Amino acid sequence: MLGRGIMFGEALLIIVGLLHLLDQGIGQSDTCKLDKCFNCSVSNTSQNCTNGVPENCTIKAFNVTIQINSSLPVDEGSNVILTCVHDLPNGSIRWMKDNVLQEERSGTYEIKHIIRSAVVHCDVESICGVFNYNVTVEVKAANNMVIILICVGAAAALLMMFAIGMKISLRRGQVQSQARKRQRQQNMENIHSTVNTVTSYY
Ligand SMILES: *[C@@H]1O[C@H](CO)[C@@H](O)[C@H](O)[C@H]1NC(C)=O
Ligand SMILES: *[C@@H]1O[C@H](CO)[C@@H](O)[C@H](O)[C@H]1NC(C)=O
Ligand SMILES: *[C@@H]1O[C@H](CO)[C@@H](O)[C@H](O)[C@H]1NC(C)=O
Ligand SMILES: *[C@@H]1O[C@H](CO)[C@@H](O)[C@H](O)[C@H]1NC(C)=O
Ligand SMILES: *[C@@H]1O[C@H](CO)[C@@H](O)[C@H](O)[C@H]1NC(C)=O
Ligand SMILES: *[C@@H]1O[C@H](CO)[C@@H](O)[C@H](O)[C@H]1NC(C)=O
Ligand SMILES: *[C@@H]1O[C@H](CO)[C@@H](O)[C@H](O)[C@H]1NC(C)=O
Ligand SMILES: *[C@@H]1O[C@H](CO)[C@@H](O)[C@H](O)[C@H]1NC(C)=O
Repeated sequence: MLGRGIMFGEALLIIVGLLHLLDQGIGQSDTCKLDKCFNCSVSNTSQNCTNGVPENCTIKAFNVTIQINSSLPVDEGSNVILTCVHDLPNGSIRWMKDNVLQEERSGTYEIKHIIRSAVVHCDVESICGVFNYNVTVEVKAANNMVIILICVGAAAALLMMFAIGMKISLRRGQVQSQARKRQRQQNMENIHSTVNTVTSYY
């Protein structure tokens, strides 16, 4: 009974020791978030590295923005380079396009041959928290596309006119040949009747 009690106590001690180590480890790796993440009105605060915002402190006004290498709206089919600029300590970047996570992990993300408008997010994860920024990359239809469409339309109209013209001239030809045929038949009939009248004389 006494032996089991001692063993239980030892186990508890070991667990407590482990927790203490872990706590120290976290504290050291963060080197206290205080100076990195918070703006404290009291300069000499001897605060713990606890979670949450310490007393008399506010979280720093961190900035995350996306810069685009061309003005909006961008030309359809062009390549667009987005740069995520931030001032977070050791922030790691994630890009999202239309809410789909992208493979890119660096500060610049390229959209090749953009076709339609997209919403792009830059999420920055850091010891001070996750901060993000989003931008809508608007796309305008390229002018050369309009020109191509006009050309195609004009070509189609020309082809149509040509086809109609052909049809009209063909039909006219048919009508004429039919008229000629009828004329010939009539001539033949006339000859026949003449022959008939001639034969009836005999
Ligand atoms: C800040 O701390 C330093 C030493 O850590 C001390 O000498 C100084 O008086 C403190 N200042 C205030 C305003 O408490
Ligand atoms: C850290 O926090 C604990 C309890 O929250 C407190 O007892 C201790 O005095 C604090 N240490 C400092 C340096 O403020
Ligand atoms: C916060 O500010 C108040 C008033 O200036 C001061 O009395 C208090 O000691 C401060 N707290 C800490 C943790 O510095
Ligand atoms: C810290 O807070 C002060 C006043 O509250 C403000 O003027 C200053 O711009 C802040 N600094 C940062 C980096 O947020
Ligand atoms: C955040 O960005 C704005 C605009 O670019 C700038 O005026 C401000 O100083 C920046 N704040 C910080 C804390 O860098
Ligand atoms: C943006 O960068 C891409 C890739 O280098 C380039 O193709 C595009 O022309 C650039 N846009 C502008 C407006 O410079
Ligand atoms: C960022 O991380 C590297 C290693 O991952 C470390 O050496 C450096 O001190 C860190 N910088 C900050 C500002 O936390
Ligand atoms: C994108 O940013 C705007 C302005 O900052 C915000 O109102 C909107 O909720 C954001 N959208 C998403 C999906 O985060």
